[in-house]
Amino acid sequence: MNAKWWQRGIFYQVYPRSFQDTTGNGVGDLEGIRQRLDYLVELGVDAIWISPIYPSPMADHGYDVSDYCGIDPVFGDFETFDRMVEDVHNRGLKLVLDFVPNHTSEQHPWFQESCSSRDNPKRDWYIWRDPAPDGGPPNNWVSYFSGSGWTFHEPTGQYYYHAYLKEQPDLNWRNPEVREEMHNVLRFWMKRGVDGFRVDVIWHLIKDALFRDDPPNPDYKPGDPENMRLQQAYSADQPEVHPVIAGLRRVVDEYPDRMLIGEIYLPVARLVTYYGENLGGANLPFNFQLISASRHAKDLAKIIMDYEAALPPGGWPNWVLGNHDQPRIASRMGPELARIAGMLLLTLRGTPTMYYGDELGMEDVQIPKRATQDPWELNEPGIGVSRDPERTPMQWDASPHAGFTTATPWLPVSPDYVRQNVAALDADPRSILTMYRRLIALRRSHACLEMGTYRTISDEDDVLVYLRENDGERVLVALNLSDETQEFTLPEDMRACRILLSTRMDDPEFAESRLRLRRHEGVLIEIEAEAAPA
Ligand code: GLC
Repeated sequence: MNAKWWQRGIFYQVYPRSFQDTTGNGVGDLEGIRQRLDYLVELGVDAIWISPIYPSPMADHGYDVSDYCGIDPVFGDFETFDRMVEDVHNRGLKLVLDFVPNHTSEQHPWFQESCSSRDNPKRDWYIWRDPAPDGGPPNNWVSYFSGSGWTFHEPTGQYYYHAYLKEQPDLNWRNPEVREEMHNVLRFWMKRGVDGFRVDVIWHLIKDALFRDDPPNPDYKPGDPENMRLQQAYSADQPEVHPVIAGLRRVVDEYPDRMLIGEIYLPVARLVTYYGENLGGANLPFNFQLISASRHAKDLAKIIMDYEAALPPGGWPNWVLGNHDQPRIASRMGPELARIAGMLLLTLRGTPTMYYGDELGMEDVQIPKRATQDPWELNEPGIGVSRDPERTPMQWDASPHAGFTTATPWLPVSPDYVRQNVAALDADPRSILTMYRRLIALRRSHACLEMGTYRTISDEDDVLVYLRENDGERVLVALNLSDETQEFTLPEDMRACRILLSTRMDDPEFAESRLRLRRHEGVLIEIEAEAAPA
């Protein structure tokens, strides 16, 4: 199979505010990313996705864009950007930008114009509605960050819609001028060398034409975030979104070898529709199932099989373990299972996306109330919605502020950074970082792991065993998710050549065809090539 770079490659998400500060203001920047590229090369990843770097009032830390074709001074300028792109490409890496098309900042000149009067030519670029008969919001849609999704604009007497903060008004993607203008934004960055885009909340782009109320969510429990009160039946995931995405994809395909990722939180059956008709939608609709998955073998096997079965013909799978909106994997699973999760991510069929610092076992950091940055937490304090804990500075070394900055960092550095940092883990042959590097190297040297078929062998005793196979090359993955030692006997038609790797980073017990897996241990086993038929 003639694979594309984004099918073979491993993606690594950089949250730019927290990767490396070079200006001494406590916030990471583009020059910092550039200076750390060799680390990513050594780790072995292929593509970097950077969260938004555009000019922004930072109400939602860059997901409120006030100029799609600029760089926020906190991150650098075009000179630093171009230098970074050049260095990325010189190292054989790819660069994926975050594209935030669903909403702009309220300070974007388009919104300022749209606000200026009801007959301004840009009025229809956003979603304006008259008040309900009682003067209240036009319907019951809620903001993801709590409260009504509608804010009243006194001077023009209408409400505008915002799926997120009131500082993030939603664009009207039914308007052809909006589409054209945003297509030009994509072209602008591709001409500057960008290899692809991760499209923010892509399933939100089109809303119900009739603005019908969203129905209540029967699973809502008191204490849940307010956005869970309703099912987003009308405010998102509308059929008309697919031609819009196909339009984005056509623009991306005007340039050779570019690609589109869609951020989509939907059940699998809905998720896979985002590959688009004839695969003309997102190349990779992000698959977040591992983020919410239980840690048990049977559940995982089911998730994998159901996903494989749901994929459209030719649709390329992908898996994500974490991102800047989700608690860290090491906190969700604990340090041992975090290693297993890494092994799973890097040996499943499909493109893996890693989140910076997960390769160090970085955990969620408790943020004192007064240090809170996340606007969602400020809106709904104390119920556990804050995303600050997973956005803390990258831990490079044991120097003050973990080598991230010389100033006070914008979010506190984890207290465990003195132990848990790149320099320390680099020197430890059994560290999680060393494990990640070995895993990635093995993935690269075994085509079956990159491109091969997937087959579940067993999910008994809370041990998930699966086979990856390509052209006679076979690797068996065995993950003991249980809290006890488990024995696993290889199927009769398989003879092991050697153990490639254990998550414990030592030599596991292996005799004949019996494998003893210690608690929370995962191993990769090379299986003897099948004898060619006589
Ligand atoms: C996406 C981003 C998240 C942001 C939201 C609004 O979910 O990942 O960080 O707050 O969109 O843009």
